[in-house]
Amino acid sequence: MPPALSAEEIRLANTRYHDVAACHYDAKWGIDFGDLGLDQVTAKVRKALGRAPGHYPRSLEIGSGTGYFTLNLLRAGLVGEATCSDISPGMLDALQANARRLGLTVYTEPANAERLPFADNSFDLVLGHAVLHHIPDLERAFGEFERVLAPGGTVLFAGEPSRYGDRLANVPKRFATAVAPLWRRAIGANPADGMDASAPDAALEAVVDVHAFAPAELLRAARRAGFEQVHVRGEELLANWFGWTNRTLEATAAPEQVPWAWRLYAYRGYLLLQELDRRLLESRLPAAVFYNLMLTARKPA
Ligand SMILES: C[S@@+](CC[C@H](N)C(=O)[O-])C[C@H]1O[C@@H](n2cnc3c(N)ncnc32)[C@H](O)[C@@H]1O
Repeated sequence: MPPALSAEEIRLANTRYHDVAACHYDAKWGIDFGDLGLDQVTAKVRKALGRAPGHYPRSLEIGSGTGYFTLNLLRAGLVGEATCSDISPGMLDALQANARRLGLTVYTEPANAERLPFADNSFDLVLGHAVLHHIPDLERAFGEFERVLAPGGTVLFAGEPSRYGDRLANVPKRFATAVAPLWRRAIGANPADGMDASAPDAALEAVVDVHAFAPAELLRAARRAGFEQVHVRGEELLANWFGWTNRTLEATAAPEQVPWAWRLYAYRGYLLLQELDRRLLESRLPAAVFYNLMLTARKPA
C-alpha cells in the first residue's frame, strides 16, 4: 500500500494534474458550449433548483475547470456577473480562451476551495460541478461557501460521484474491458497505442480523486456549515452504465479508427438513456444507487 498523501500533497497533485489536462480537457470529456452543452447544464440546474430556477446576479463557481457550467449559465442568462475560481491556473487560462471565443465576460481567480480569496456575503449563488470529490478538507470548504454567500444565497453542486454508484459502474467497465478485443474486431479498429501523449501524468490520476460520497455525508457537510433546506438527489444510472461501457471500449481502440456511426450511436444512446433515467428512475430509486449526486441548499436569510 502506498503511504497516504497529506492534504497539501493532494492539492499540489490536483494543480499539476489539471494544469496538464487543461489543453485537451474539453475534447476528452466532450465539454460543449453549443446547444448540447446549454441544454445539459440548464437541465441539471432546473432539476436541482426547479423549473424556474431564478436569476442570480453574482455567481461564484468553485473548481470551474474550462467553464462548462458558468459559461453555459451565462449564455442561458441564468447568472449575471460570473466569477470562476480553480486551484489550477491552466484550467482558468483555458476558461478565459473559451469565454473570449464565446464573447462572454467572466472574472477568474486561482484559489483553493478551502481558502477563498473573496469577501464575506459577496455572491448570490455558489456552484460547482465534479469538484467536491477533489477537496481534502470538505468541512473547511463548506465553511468557505457559506461565508462568501450572501444571506438567503443558494449553493448548488452537481456531478459528484456516489460511493455505491461508483462501485456499480465497475460492472460495465469490467464487461467492456473483457469484450474489447471482440468489439475492435467488429469495427475493424487496431488497439490504441499504450502511450497516449495527451494523457496527463497517469500516476496522478489515482491521487486527485479523494472522495466518493454517500448522500448522507454531503447532507451532513452542508448542514454542519449552517446551510438549511439541504437536498441531495441522485442522477444518471442507465446513462452512466451505457456511457462507461462505450468510453472503456473506445479507450482501447485507435481513436481515428472508431467509426463515426459508432460515435453517433454512443452519443444518441446516452441522451436517450439520460431521459429515461430522468423520467422513470430518478424520482423512484434511492439517491445512493445513481452515479452522480447533486446537492442544493440555502444560507439562512
Ligand atoms: C473534474 S474537474 C471539473 C471541472 C469543471 N467543473 C467541469 O465540470 O468541467 C475538477 C476541477 O476542480 C479543480 N480542483 C481540484 N481541487 C481543487 C481545490 N482544492 N480547490 C479548487 N479547485 C479544485 C481542478 O483543478 C479541476 O479544474
